[in-house]
Amino acid sequence: MYDNIVLIGFMGCGKTSVGKILARQINKKFMDIDNLIEKEQNSSVSDIFENKGEEYFRGLEQKCINELTQKTGQVISTGGGLPIYSSISEKSLVIYVETEFDVILNRLSVKERDKRPLFYDEPSARALFNKRIHIYKEQSNFSIDATQSIQTYIHVLVDYILDQRVL
Ligand code: S3P
Repeated sequence: MYDNIVLIGFMGCGKTSVGKILARQINKKFMDIDNLIEKEQNSSVSDIFENKGEEYFRGLEQKCINELTQKTGQVISTGGGLPIYSSISEKSLVIYVETEFDVILNRLSVKERDKRPLFYDEPSARALFNKRIHIYKEQSNFSIDATQSIQTYIHVLVDYILDQRVL
């Protein structure tokens, strides 16, 4: 029995979109860590990186996921670096929203890339992607192939989750 569902995956893979739809379909609360941090700090993620540094941001992520996972019955969307730098409660069902790098590149507009301080340029983002994918796999209980549109795979995800019993 799991307390919460935690979505992980690289920047732009669609964690927030999947999380919102999923939460609605299985009647759970949706929580987005980046969004909660931005509200709490009254500052955007890129401004936090610029003014306080990445390490400070990673501390905020760990604190936020720790606090959230004290509660139950939520679908939690994380930033792409959270499972790399933070530990996630073992009582969470961790889902890897898996996509290829080129799919992400096509999906993210320039405006969306600019919001992400670690998406400076294509080669460095691609290298980061290659470095991280095995960690996403290791950290997750289940992967969903999110190369296709959400509508095509959401029912697979919902069926899997309903089988797992999440509070
Ligand atoms: C990051 C991903 C971002 C955000 C921050 C750092 C990362 O979230 O948390 O810019 O290290 O991959 P998204 O995955 O929602 O873009």
